[in-house]
Amino acid sequence: MKMPESGVDKSSLFNKMSEVRDNDIKWKEGKAFSLVFNGGEEITEIIKEAYTMFFSENGLNPSAFPSLKKFENEVVQMTANLLNGVESAGNMTSGGTESILMAIKTAREWARANKPEIKEPELIMPKSAHPAFNKGGHYFGVKIITIPTKSDYRADVEAMEKAITKNTIMLVGSAPSYPQGVIDPIEDIAALAKKNNLLMHVDACVGGVVLPFYKKLGADIPSFDFSVDGVTSMSVDLHKYGYAAKGASVVLYKNKTLRRYQFYVTTDWPGGMYGSPTILGTRPGGAIAAAWAIMNYLGEEGYLKIIGQIKETTEEFKKRVDQMKGIEVAGKPDMSVISLISHDVDIFQVGDGLASRGWHLDMQQDPNALHMTITYAHKDSIDEFFKDLEFAVSEARQLSNKLSGMKTAMTRGLLKSMPKGMVSKLVAKEGQNLGNSDKRPEKMAPMYGMMAAITDNGDRENLVKDALDNLFS
Ligand SMILES: Cc1ncc(COP(=O)(O)O)c(C=O)c1O
Repeated sequence: MKMPESGVDKSSLFNKMSEVRDNDIKWKEGKAFSLVFNGGEEITEIIKEAYTMFFSENGLNPSAFPSLKKFENEVVQMTANLLNGVESAGNMTSGGTESILMAIKTAREWARANKPEIKEPELIMPKSAHPAFNKGGHYFGVKIITIPTKSDYRADVEAMEKAITKNTIMLVGSAPSYPQGVIDPIEDIAALAKKNNLLMHVDACVGGVVLPFYKKLGADIPSFDFSVDGVTSMSVDLHKYGYAAKGASVVLYKNKTLRRYQFYVTTDWPGGMYGSPTILGTRPGGAIAAAWAIMNYLGEEGYLKIIGQIKETTEEFKKRVDQMKGIEVAGKPDMSVISLISHDVDIFQVGDGLASRGWHLDMQQDPNALHMTITYAHKDSIDEFFKDLEFAVSEARQLSNKLSGMKTAMTRGLLKSMPKGMVSKLVAKEGQNLGNSDKRPEKMAPMYGMMAAITDNGDRENLVKDALDNLFS
């Protein structure tokens, strides 16, 4: 494809854009349980206006834009204040992944300066920690050691202790984890880190804004922030439950000394001295301004109200799931991130049943589950959701007695008994078709069933890379 010979007029352009949007998930109707944090019309208007007001400005050079410098510093301070960071220092980043990458890079530089004997640094985290840590380890040459979670899905701290070696530089816990929404035993992990002179990162990308308000609302939330001795850095996403525009997260350190390891500086470039606090060069002013705007617009009172509503909605979701047969909430989630499991039906078939009715719930593995991040907009879609969930569960129950269930079981059995080379060929063939449609896929259960049956990690990785190849072709 090449650019059109001559430009398209404005109205055709925007008509076309609306048209291609038709097949997207209907997040405005409260049908998405990940990817979009919809705070309703009023919030959307504020962040849109603030974003467009500053969409040309560039946070790369804050001395050129004292406005952005003020916004970023105040956003960081307000976030640190929520999390008891008395001496904290930090920066805004483009999202949770960048915040986590920065914490890992900082840990590596800290270790180089303070523990020069370490040549192959290691980071220990529970298997529930977000893949951004694996990505960071991969990018920055830090080996990721994964430890198991206990039956309540929280990090097994004894296993973490056993995994510490002379190469360990940092321990990680989540508040809460993405897959089951539970908070790891942060106090125990932080104490372990302190005892061993290690850094400790709390991933509060999802919970950083919510948990302080849950506490205020009377929920029993264990300490998870800088009030815990031993916590040295945190990541907090404002573009999630902070209801800021996308591209806004905060990485925080216990103090400025630690934050200094994050900076990148080069002094001999003919283009001038170059200093950059985070990964990005150009940093979008719109995202910084919108985060500042929404925090000031809502204030503590506004967040308390919204998060109070989210808490109520989540409790209602959990109550209604408890009343259903064949489906349950995994573990005891600490806030508004939950996952659904089943001992009775194929939960992925339930996911497909919901998808065919327009809902979007991500599929998870180990254990197989459907993910739900409950946000403000779900208060209005809860009745419709449970009506459709009942249908989807009963369909899945019928299916599991019939062909599809048998087919999946056969595929699993067959794949497991096939020689490795043959499985790889089959996987390669399957991979050609993944992700190359312009429409959202409605049936994911067969693909997840197949993934579960493939035992070779190389084959699994290839399948996902095929899908990425096709998605971005
Ligand atoms: C716990 C947790 N950490 C980190 C991230 C990564 O955030 P982002 O997608 O903004 O990079 C996520 C995203 O869902 C998350 O749930």
